[in-house]
Parts: sequence; structure tokens; C-alpha cells
Amino acid sequence: MSLSRNRGTLGDRIKRRVIVTSALPYINGMPHLGNLVGSMLPADIYSRYLQMAGVEHIFICGSDQHGTPIELSAIRNGIDTEKFADSMHERTKNALLNMECDFTYYGKTHTEQNKRVVYRIFEALDRNGYISEEEVMQAYCLLDMRFIPDRMIEGICPYCGSAHARGDQCDDCGRLLDPQEIVGPKCSICGKSEIEFRKTKNLAIELPMLSENIKDFIRSIEQNVSKNALNKTTSYVDAGLKSRQITRDLKWGFKVPKKGFEDKVFYVWFDAVIGYIGITMEWNEALGEEYWTDTNTELVQFMGKDNIEFHTVIWPAILEGSSIGYIKPTRIMVYEYLISGKIKFSKSRGVGLNIENALDVMGAEYWRFVLSYLLPETSDMDFSVELIFEVVNKIMNDKIGNLVNRAFTISSKNRALLSGNSLREITGRKIREKLGIYRNDFENVRMREALKQIVELADLGNEIMSVEKPWELAKAEDAEGFSKVMNDVLHICRCIGIMLWPYTPNASTYILRHFGIDGKPQIDELQKSMEFLPDDDIKPIFSKIGEREKNMLSGFG
Ligand code: MF3
Ligand code: ZN
Repeated sequence: MSLSRNRGTLGDRIKRRVIVTSALPYINGMPHLGNLVGSMLPADIYSRYLQMAGVEHIFICGSDQHGTPIELSAIRNGIDTEKFADSMHERTKNALLNMECDFTYYGKTHTEQNKRVVYRIFEALDRNGYISEEEVMQAYCLLDMRFIPDRMIEGICPYCGSAHARGDQCDDCGRLLDPQEIVGPKCSICGKSEIEFRKTKNLAIELPMLSENIKDFIRSIEQNVSKNALNKTTSYVDAGLKSRQITRDLKWGFKVPKKGFEDKVFYVWFDAVIGYIGITMEWNEALGEEYWTDTNTELVQFMGKDNIEFHTVIWPAILEGSSIGYIKPTRIMVYEYLISGKIKFSKSRGVGLNIENALDVMGAEYWRFVLSYLLPETSDMDFSVELIFEVVNKIMNDKIGNLVNRAFTISSKNRALLSGNSLREITGRKIREKLGIYRNDFENVRMREALKQIVELADLGNEIMSVEKPWELAKAEDAEGFSKVMNDVLHICRCIGIMLWPYTPNASTYILRHFGIDGKPQIDELQKSMEFLPDDDIKPIFSKIGEREKNMLSGFG
């Protein structure tokens, strides 16, 4: 693949090029279904769509390896921190691959490449005058006799009153915090409140100096940010921007390359957001540089709502302030939380259904479909065992799975009657209409809506079958009538096969193989004439779930 473009050559139109990113998961615990639904899954689905639509793109994600939780886990397990972080990275990566995430590259933040980008950006920010020294108070635990990182301070959120706030952020309201703001702070290493705030010097990025750039940036992507994210961002900015520290008195992380700060490391979030670039460089330095510096590249970023401020305020400020010429986000997609009274998902509290044990309950395609069908685009999603059952059994199995199964079986059995590849005008129109809405939904990154079009197309197929009863036409050996009906239904199945690819790639591949389409499909293939390849061993693409799954899911309460 060559990415070089001869701009200026006659007839050479500017090609669309996209970087898709998913928030980098922490690897201290296995990502849970809430992390998956909030970032990797929608990013993967969108990226697969781009692939299918023939848009040049890369899909970048990776492990956020720094931070104190991982350091403490390593200490507790008596393992070298880097080795531990790398082994957790491998485990996380495998689990995500098992969830069928089709990354261009899944990297990690603790690499030479990322360090180079972090230093380059830091030095530029410093040169441009956006870095200041701050004498700060950091929590020190008198029992553990060490500085306690913000994240390891727990207590009550001064903004929303949640009892589960951490020193750096409140998971419940999403607000970034200063550990001294926490009400009733406790050390989460020993669980006690023997905390004292001690003076130490750290470096900070002067967000107030960049506030005009930040406001311009927010205006520039207003139309392309989820509403919830825009509201939060506006309220952060209106409340007045404050400088944010980018270094910490810790050992695990990238050493700070500045005199007087050599014994400190960069704060985890700083090298995590920059990690999007660093990971791309880990994948391919030359192409990475090209992607990240081409002003025509679209940067589409997916994340859960706890990451809004990093991406709408701090990250553009870093990019702008360093003035290296790296592109800024062109679209920011934010997802709400999965909540359930019965099933728990909370990584920071270490409980719940993570992506590893979710796969023991049912296969990746089931989770991908269910989570996409319920994607929390606009509000938190109430997630229940009943809902999972309804989507798998009534929609995946009864509507889509049954249609494909019945259509393939009856067509294979009666292959002698089946001829041509006719498509009746009215069915053709309906297929084009659904596909059109599906594409438009994807262009606007509405993946839950796009999935509904597949279900409606399956409804159409099922209706044709039940009204026109092709099995009776077959019995009467009415070849013409049978072909007319089944060619319509098979066209629908082929289209469903294409449309399912972003959501359930295996089911898609299975369907498309019966139409001679192999490998990663292209939407354009629907324009080719349709030919069904009979098969005497049709297997169901989806099946129902029952008591076994119910018991397992209930076990995560
Ligand atoms: N690892 C952090 C989280 O999961 C931050 C991810 S977003 C990044 O919340 F941009 F910082 F990578
Ligand atoms: Zn302590």
C-alpha cells in the first residue's frame, strides 16, 4: 500500500484518510464490558465500516501501561514493573483480539517510540513557554511512608457527592479532581486516613495561556462531538481553565528530561494521550509521521465519558501548544456507561464481567451484537440478563439467523429449480433504501441505528418467505416462481452478509462465502451480479442461549 499522493497532479482528487482511535485501556485489570462498549467496540465497528467502504484508514489502540495501580500490583506480586506491565499488555491484547477487534495496530505506551514523541512534545511545550513549575502538595501516607499518587486517594467527590471519587477523577460525574479537594481522603494502599499533604515541585501545562486555542478548537468540532461531551466541555471551559500538572514523584513512567526534575516521571495521562501518536510510530514511523502530520487526515476518537476532558481540552492544548504540526481530533465520539443492578462492571473497583470472562459465557459475536444493539450513545444503558436474552434469542437467532438458515437450506435443497439472479423492483428498492440509511448512519457514526437497518432487512426477508411460501412453490416444481421469490431473499441475505461485517465478522464471512465473496468484503461487491453457491451442510450463524448462560451471568452479580 502506498500512501504517497502527488497532490497537484491533474485529476488527482484528495483522498479521504482517517485515523480511528479507541481510548487506551489501563491494563491493571482486564477491561470490562463497559470499557469495550465505550471505546474499542464502536471504534472497531467504525473502522471495519471504513474498510468496507474503501476508505484509507488506520485503527490504533494500545495498553496504557503507566500509572500507580500497575506499579503497586507488580510490587505486590514481587515482579519487575515493566515485565508485569508487558505481561498484562499481552493478556489484554489477546482478550481484545478474541473479541474480534481488528486493529491496524494494538501497541503500548511504555516504548522507545512513545518516549521519543513524549519528549519531543514536552520539549516543544517547554520551549514555547507553556510549561511552568508548581510547588504542590502531594499526599504522603505516614503509614506506608511514601507519596501516594492521586489515583490512590479515595474519598467523597466535592462536586457530585459520590463516595467513590479518586484523587485524580470522579468516575461518577467524570470531573477531574485535585487530591486535596477530596472530602475525607483515604490511602488506598493501607486503607487508612493517616495522610498528610507534603510540598513537592512539579511541572504543569499552562492551560489558561492556551484557552483561546482551546475555545477555537471546541468551536471547530462542535458539530462532530457527541452532545453530552460538548456540554461537559463547555462547562469545564466556562468554569475557567487551570494549569494541570504533568509530572509526579514516582518511579514507574518516563523520566522527566529537565534539570531539577530528573527523579520524577511524567504523569500517566500525559504519555497516554500522546500514546496515540507513539503507538502509531511503534507501528510504522514513516507512515505514522505521514498520517499524523497531513492536515487532510481525519482523526476520529472513541472513548467513554470519563475521558472527555482529556480529549476535548487537554489533548488539543498539548497538540496546539507544541506547534509541531500534529493534527487535532476532527470527531470525538463519547459513550455513556453500562449500568446494571445485577451485573457489575467496574475496573477501578476490580469487580464484574470483564472481556475475558464474558467470552466464557458466550462467543464474541454475541457480545458484539448485543452491545451494539444497546450502544449507550445518548444515555446510560440499563443492562440486564433479560435484555441480553431478548437480543440474542429474538433478534439474532429468530430474525437474522433463521432467515439466513432457512433461505440457504431451501435454496440448496432445491438448487435445480433455482436459476438466474432476478431481483424484483420493489425488493431492490427496499434493499437500496435500507443500505442507504445504513451508510448514512455510519457516515454520522451512529452504529446502533445502522444495526437496526440490518434487522429491518431481515424482517423484510422473513416476510417475503412467510407470505410467498417458497417451499410450496418448490413442492409444485414451479421453478420460475421459486426463483423469483428466492432470488429476492438471497439478495437480501447477501446484503445482510455485507452489513453484518462490522458487527459480527464471522457470521458475515459465513454468509458471504455462499456468494463467492471471500476475505474482507467491500460494500461495492453488492453491485456485482448475485450468485448463490449451494451447500448441503448449512450451519446456523447464531443460536439461542439458555439456562447455562443465565446462570453464568447471574454469577457476576
Ligand atoms: N487509560 C485511561 C482510561 O482508561 C485513559 C485512556 S484515554 C488516553 O481511562 F487517551 F489517555 F489514552
Ligand atoms: Zn497508606
